[in-house]
Amino acid sequence: MSTAAPARKDFLSVLDFETADLERCLEIAAHVKADRSLGRQAPTAGSLEGRHVAMLFEKASLRTRSTFEIAVVELGGNVVSLQPDAALGKREPVSDVARNLERWVDCIVIRTFSQKVLEEFAAAAPRLRVINALTDDQHPCQALADVLTLREQWGQVKGRTVAYVGDGNNVAVSLVHATLMLGINIHVVSPDGYALPDWAVQQAALAARHGARLRLFTDAADAVAGVDAVYTDTWTSMGQEAEAEQRRQIFAPFQVNDALMAVAKPGALFMHCLPAHRGEEVTAEVFESATSVVFDQAENRLHVQKALLSMLLSGQHH
Ligand code: CP
Ligand code: NVA
Repeated sequence: MSTAAPARKDFLSVLDFETADLERCLEIAAHVKADRSLGRQAPTAGSLEGRHVAMLFEKASLRTRSTFEIAVVELGGNVVSLQPDAALGKREPVSDVARNLERWVDCIVIRTFSQKVLEEFAAAAPRLRVINALTDDQHPCQALADVLTLREQWGQVKGRTVAYVGDGNNVAVSLVHATLMLGINIHVVSPDGYALPDWAVQQAALAARHGARLRLFTDAADAVAGVDAVYTDTWTSMGQEAEAEQRRQIFAPFQVNDALMAVAKPGALFMHCLPAHRGEEVTAEVFESATSVVFDQAENRLHVQKALLSMLLSGQHH
């Protein structure tokens, strides 16, 4: 199994991967998932031997932090937890922080607000691998887990259609990238003023393979009619808490409930990156339904991130 490094040193966006990199990442992820029960006997158990991976989280996290920490340890590497107040431009410029870390660690996993900060970090340190663990704009590691889950469910994913219902946010942007790259059609429906950003729509045209299309809708039932999977995310993302009440009202017609799922293809999957808010973006019934794959998505975070770390760090020595 080849773990050849992608052309780009960082993973700030799904679009840092070529389609072939994405395919390879999913293949490696499937292998490491199958091999996990082998523990220290797994073929990848020593892939990060002698490597240090720093973690820097400026926003809350359950899944991303836990799965990255477990991934590094299960690959034989070492985790370095950083304090965000010491490392994101408050005490010294971001570029200085990056150039310090580059001398000590091989890779850094960052969750912050601005995508620009990540780009600055990555540009300042040519030998440091930077992984986006969520910004306001993108959540590429989530999208890797999402498409692995779809592959597991469907086998052949080309030509299927996913509808994303809700805020045109970080999760939506990365999902659009990853689905289109694999030939999956994607529908996005959002309230007026909360649509996918224009830059993401433009990038989608470049990302699409195998004739896959992005279609934008204004009515949730139109977007979901006949689709193979329905995806939603919180109405209020981290950092937007002051808008929560207003958003609850604006997004109310975009709740994923039994009535909406009924217009999708029979047996359509329900997907959510989590954390979920029952009674808001999704009802308890849909969340707990037989076709809900939300915990598969959460589990797959671990496997895709192991694959990503081994790809980015293969052949790179300090
Ligand atoms: N889905 C996801 O990224 O979860 P956390 O915010 O808990 O990391
Ligand atoms: N859109 C959400 C995703 C959380 C994983 C947020 O940014 O808070």
